[in-house]
Amino acid sequence: MAASIVKRVSRVKKLNVSHISARYKLLTGFRHFSTSKQWNKALVLGVYENESTDSIDFTGTARKFDEKADGKISQLLLTVKKPLKCGKTRTLHAVDPEFSSVLVTCIGKRGEGYDELETVDKGRESIRAAVAKAVLQLRELGENEIEVDSCGDTEASAEGCHLALFSYDDLKAEKSRKPAVRISCATRYSQDKNSMEKEWRKGAILAEGQNLSRRLMEMPANLLTPTKFAEIIKEQLADKCEVLVRDKDWAESMKMGSFLSVARGSVEPPVFLEIEYKGRQSDSPLALVGKGVTFDTGGISIKPSQGMDAMRGDMGGAACVAGSLLSVSKLQLPVHVKAFIPLCENMPSGSATKPGDVVTAMNGKTIQVDNTDAEGRLILADALCYSEQFNPSLILDMATLTGAIDVALGAGAAGVFTNSENMWNKLQKASVRSGDRVWRMPLFNHYTKKITECQLADLNNIGGSRSGGACTAAAFLKEFVNNKNWLHLDIAGVMSNSGDVAYLGKGMSGRPTRTVIEFINLMSKETNN
Ligand code: BES
Ligand code: ZN
Ligand code: ZN
Repeated sequence: MAASIVKRVSRVKKLNVSHISARYKLLTGFRHFSTSKQWNKALVLGVYENESTDSIDFTGTARKFDEKADGKISQLLLTVKKPLKCGKTRTLHAVDPEFSSVLVTCIGKRGEGYDELETVDKGRESIRAAVAKAVLQLRELGENEIEVDSCGDTEASAEGCHLALFSYDDLKAEKSRKPAVRISCATRYSQDKNSMEKEWRKGAILAEGQNLSRRLMEMPANLLTPTKFAEIIKEQLADKCEVLVRDKDWAESMKMGSFLSVARGSVEPPVFLEIEYKGRQSDSPLALVGKGVTFDTGGISIKPSQGMDAMRGDMGGAACVAGSLLSVSKLQLPVHVKAFIPLCENMPSGSATKPGDVVTAMNGKTIQVDNTDAEGRLILADALCYSEQFNPSLILDMATLTGAIDVALGAGAAGVFTNSENMWNKLQKASVRSGDRVWRMPLFNHYTKKITECQLADLNNIGGSRSGGACTAAAFLKEFVNNKNWLHLDIAGVMSNSGDVAYLGKGMSGRPTRTVIEFINLMSKETNN
């Protein structure tokens, strides 16, 4: 007893996570960890759901570990009569000299795969959720070096734990932060360690992209201004991509009157980011466009104050574009991508756009701004027009665009509006793999009529009534796109996670970054991108 207390005290003392200067931390919100740490090792093993009370259906790795431990793991698990159910765990101690804890997590029924109604690969989702729960429980126990079972899908296993361990507590005192945890794949019993390591790395990079999106979305708007967003993107992507930071004068010279009409209410200058990743020579890049409203007050059509803090995440589209580019470039996918990110604040002030004002977009179309809170479509209009100049093979935009998509789909799926059946099929396929779902929505003329019936200009920025709000917003964007492969993802409903996705903590979700990375991966296999 006394010895264990001594050990615990020394463990606390040795947990010495160094941190960079408070000033740098506050400015960037990015934290770095020291390597001088005392590591306490734990192991996560997977088992399949199994009705039997006298046998355990282990994964390959878990079975070999149990054999090596002379069946100790199965004996201990079988001492209680109730079999483990999907998503449940058992933690064992003192079963192996190397690991202070061995946590057994149930990954659901063997052989589970694509579920047509759920449009998801259930096997992969169960693995993500099961390992996520496992590593979080082990972190609670003070374990800080965790080896994780690949559970038959190394990539999903890596995604689950890297996503689960994310926390945005950079602005908190050291003692309130989650401790750093080192995770690795339990490759020791694998026939082909190299390919397992490779898959693990891919999963980790997919999660890293989504975690960058989450971090950017979570950052408070006083720290993450358009200017700061651009600085962070340069820092994160500059060694792999070309990052051009365009200012207000440039936007004026490009005649981006619609974008600038949103920015004009704020003292923070707007920024237009243009990023290029050239993993292949091609004349027709994939174009990504992201809504980058670093704070949306609604402008003169001001929002109610309750819950307005969530509007720091209104640059979610921009964040997901950045997160996707980080992963695409780290994976060195053979693809040419160009990204366009209009960044600004939507504020009320003496210089702000007023309801009824008319502005002119880059393509010459005039817009009556009847509601200054429908600002996302105004900044995207110019970004979409500009992206067309680069002869893209497809244009994919992401935007936390409407509350209406949240009413329609909630956090179940991102709403997708596209003029291409082929693109839809590819995106959906990508989302089945990632588990981060999409759902197709209509681009009917019915909705176009609602925004083209306008008193003073070619278009009105709202559809007249609240009905079909996500569809009228998409119909508005359609007026600025000629490309035959256009996808618009309304991600307002999936912006934050309040417990729906088991392997994402509460807070900004970074969805659907991994779906977009998978989609780009699929597109990189086509010849002309
Ligand atoms: N940024 C909001 C949409 C939003 C809502 C994002 C909830 C995330 C969570 C957008 O700019 C907006 O305010 N849209 C209005 C449009 C309306 C005025 C036509 C909306 O959805 O209410
Ligand atoms: Zn708004
Ligand atoms: Zn907005």
